[in-house]
Amino acid sequence: MIDQATIARIMDAAEITDVIQDFVSLKKRGVNFLGLCPFHNEKTPSFTVSPAKGIYKCFGCGRGGNSVNFIMEHEHLTYPEALKYLAKKYHIEVVEKERTQEEIQQQNERESMLIVLNFAQKYFAETLFQNDEGISVGLSYFKERGFRHDTLKKFGIGYSPVKKDAFTEAALNAGYKLDFLTKTGMTIARENYKFDRFNGRVIFPIHSLSGQVIGFGGRILKTDAKAAKYLNSPETDIYHKSRALYGIYQAKNSIVSNNKCYLVEGYTDVLALHQSGIENVVASSGTALTPDQIRLIKRFTTSVTILYDGDEAGLKASIRGIDLVLEEGLNVKIVVLPDGEDPDSLSKKLSTSEFNDFVLSHEKDFIRFKTELLVKDAKNDPVKRAGLIREIVRSIAVIPDGITRSVYLKECSTMLHSDEKLLYFEMNKIRQKNTEQKYRNTSYREELVPPPQNQPATGQESDIQTEAQEREIIRLLLFYGHNELFAVEGENEEEKYISVGEFIISELANDELSLENKIYQQILEEYSSHLGKGTYPDQKVFINHKDEGIRKLTAHLLAPGYDLSKIWKKHDNYIETEEMKLKEIVPETLYAFKNKKVLEATTKLELNLNEAVKKNDMDEIQAIQERIILLNNLKKELSKNLGDRTII
Ligand code: CTP
Ligand code: MN
Repeated sequence: MIDQATIARIMDAAEITDVIQDFVSLKKRGVNFLGLCPFHNEKTPSFTVSPAKGIYKCFGCGRGGNSVNFIMEHEHLTYPEALKYLAKKYHIEVVEKERTQEEIQQQNERESMLIVLNFAQKYFAETLFQNDEGISVGLSYFKERGFRHDTLKKFGIGYSPVKKDAFTEAALNAGYKLDFLTKTGMTIARENYKFDRFNGRVIFPIHSLSGQVIGFGGRILKTDAKAAKYLNSPETDIYHKSRALYGIYQAKNSIVSNNKCYLVEGYTDVLALHQSGIENVVASSGTALTPDQIRLIKRFTTSVTILYDGDEAGLKASIRGIDLVLEEGLNVKIVVLPDGEDPDSLSKKLSTSEFNDFVLSHEKDFIRFKTELLVKDAKNDPVKRAGLIREIVRSIAVIPDGITRSVYLKECSTMLHSDEKLLYFEMNKIRQKNTEQKYRNTSYREELVPPPQNQPATGQESDIQTEAQEREIIRLLLFYGHNELFAVEGENEEEKYISVGEFIISELANDELSLENKIYQQILEEYSSHLGKGTYPDQKVFINHKDEGIRKLTAHLLAPGYDLSKIWKKHDNYIETEEMKLKEIVPETLYAFKNKKVLEATTKLELNLNEAVKKNDMDEIQAIQERIILLNNLKKELSKNLGDRTII
């Protein structure tokens, strides 16, 4: 827990433009700053930073917030992690409250270990690039394998000399305590001698999500049947093999922007893909993914593509492990590489674009892939076929989303020429068994506390909510339609701004949304046609409208007191009015409205999908699925936007 006083100090120090300028180049525009949004692709800047208000806002993608929100979003950190990041930047000591003596000591110990590992990484890297042995043995090895210097530097690759205690000696000479050298596993100490764990190996540092070195992998260079090819740091307080993912630190931004994560087996595969321009890649380090690793990936994307380099026998053994990934609700695709190739070797035979093309064109949905593979294998052997059906249905059964399960079952029943009802029956049996098993496990039982009753809104409640949202949109339009919302750069670099009215109308038009209430919709349309002519309609246009409904409504909405009742916050000596908060209120109102529309549309599509599944209409199923995916993406975007605002 970081105490409030420290949070306040951090917030005071973290000047928004200073924080953002580490990542985005900003140009001054009037009282604000403007730049290219780091969260979505754009050619003309719509990312606005207001030093006075201490906030940023992208007009293009809707993201916004304060300094901490920016760091959270940009660096993919949690709230406390972002605070610590900023504390470090501004040299503020973070006081965490309520820690016991023991916790403090543990913390100190972990920090000492991190410091030792940091030193070790620098030492190994320096040795690789500057030391004679490093250059002639280590660097020439990488050169022979076609790795460029910039790639090696990006991953902090190094070399540990052959001399048994070269590193240990250097570390002790530099003042590091033997205690931490052994605790991190860097040094193995016996009564009367000490030696390096990694001597005579090239070194791959393993980074945490926030970029700290938490362990190493070392590859032997000589062919020695006795020694393992790769040696890794032992499990320590800071390095847990089952939680780390090699390359996650270097990949995270690219995983988010591509909304996809490639999974490979080895360290060198990760390096090779980066060198081919594919940066959204992590390695499982030769084993099946653990639940912790899957959850780590899930923080950034729900799509995983596995680049598989085994032979067919190995492939069959390993596809079972993939069920764990499906179970977490990730979409899994698989690319099988040509026999004898791994991502590293293949990427070096092909040009960057050929390699990219290969991956994209060989990517196969995992369930489909698995079905095809097993069908080929079982051919007409009835016993094998029965086993294979169970095998496939088992994978489908763990997928959390019911609609996805139905779609797969349908498709597999076609591919397997087997009765869909039978597959359903099999699947339900497996699902039931899985649930029972989970229930038997006591630790799981604790999690089975019934969730808070989240009753779906009844039709009436839902209508009332929509009505309130629509009225609020119209109220904002009538009151503040001509107010400046965001500054944007005009064609000849002159200052321009987007008004509240322009924002509301374009946001609704972009998503082809109209308001259910006819009166509101009419006001919106008339307002829009005024804007089309380049003018803002006076409130009188609506107050004196020929349509009685519009007249009544505007008279009600514009009645004195309506806006003042919306005072946001009272400070000691001044009042913050709604008008000062439009940058937050207007987008928030629209996103909440859109969010509701998306939810309604999804529910409707899900019903249609069930119908289509019953009718066995594959085209319709596909079309609906695609719509649902689209809506889900939109929903994610919206909840992100909404989430940002609630954090402030
Ligand atoms: N691995 C390991 N210990 C071993 C062998 C392998 O930890 N004794 C892990 C490493 O993370 C390695 C991955 O499994 O990167 C894949 O192993 P392998 O395919 O044998 O190695 P490559 O990554 O292909 O390494 P190289 O190309 O250098 O031979
Ligand atoms: Mn290899």
